[in-house]
Amino acid sequence: MNLSDKTILITGGGSGIGLALAHAFSGRGSHVLICGRREEPLRAAAEAIPGLEYFLCDVADDVDRRRLFEWAGERRSPVNVLVNNAGIQRPINLLEGTRDLAHAENEVTTNLLAPIHLTGLFIPHLMRVASEGGEAAIVNITSGLAFVPLAGVPVYCATKAALHSYTESLRWQLRDTGVAVFEAAPPLVESELHMGRQVVGMALSSEEAARVTLAGMEEERYFIRIGRADWFWSLSHQNPEGAVAAFNGNMG
Ligand SMILES: NC(=O)c1ccc[n+]([C@@H]2O[C@H](COP(=O)([O-])OP(=O)(O)OC[C@H]3O[C@@H](n4cnc5c(N)ncnc54)[C@H](OP(=O)(O)O)[C@@H]3O)[C@@H](O)[C@H]2O)c1
Repeated sequence: MNLSDKTILITGGGSGIGLALAHAFSGRGSHVLICGRREEPLRAAAEAIPGLEYFLCDVADDVDRRRLFEWAGERRSPVNVLVNNAGIQRPINLLEGTRDLAHAENEVTTNLLAPIHLTGLFIPHLMRVASEGGEAAIVNITSGLAFVPLAGVPVYCATKAALHSYTESLRWQLRDTGVAVFEAAPPLVESELHMGRQVVGMALSSEEAARVTLAGMEEERYFIRIGRADWFWSLSHQNPEGAVAAFNGNMG
């Protein structure tokens, strides 16, 4: 896929991997649109990236998603690429029964239902772009934890495993439409996702995760496993029974 002169909408583009993707797409000569719930990081991104436009919204909210879709449709050129990047992660102690599940719904809504609904809004639009000779794509950001779960963040891992599966079905259903469906699965990346929690292991930079994602899109590799996410993928296939114990055991 040629990534110059495109219009790219990135959810959660104000920080971390989304912001790095915004810089990288802009560097290819594309027009970048981002959204998020906090205005300050979005405004800072707009100051740093030429031409970037932002929209304040919560992708977990249906009304906000529809407003985002309408706003994106009013930009100077039609959206070519939807990047479902916004995500949250919460540690949950399952031994607490229902007491520690306060955030579970929001995690499922933000990480899984929001990309599904936003994709639903954009599919007719992207199919039209493709049928008129333009390039169109959907990029879902999953995780290496989709393949081998980290037990301390169980709902997060479940949402990413589900988003991985959904992305495969989406790619299959859209196979004759001209709309490309990419999945980028990052490994551990330095970002606000971990909310100051100490993360174990070698974290990649957001910039490197974005660089590998764009390279994969340009090479039309539809399932982009970044860095150690590829190891997670292999481990889950080579030793499905032992993978969870091997990974979580190593985490101490
Ligand atoms: N960091 C890692 O180790 C890692 C590894 C694999 C995959 N990923 C995935 O990469 C993606 C980006 O995460 P990140 O690491 O870059 O973390 P991040 O810096 O926390 O970025 C997440 C972004 O999503 C936005 N967001 C969260 N909930 C939202 C909502 N309901 N509506 C709109 N925007 C929302 C946040 O902005 P607001 O708070 O302002 O809304 C933030 O800008 C996520 O899908 C994550 O699961 C991360």
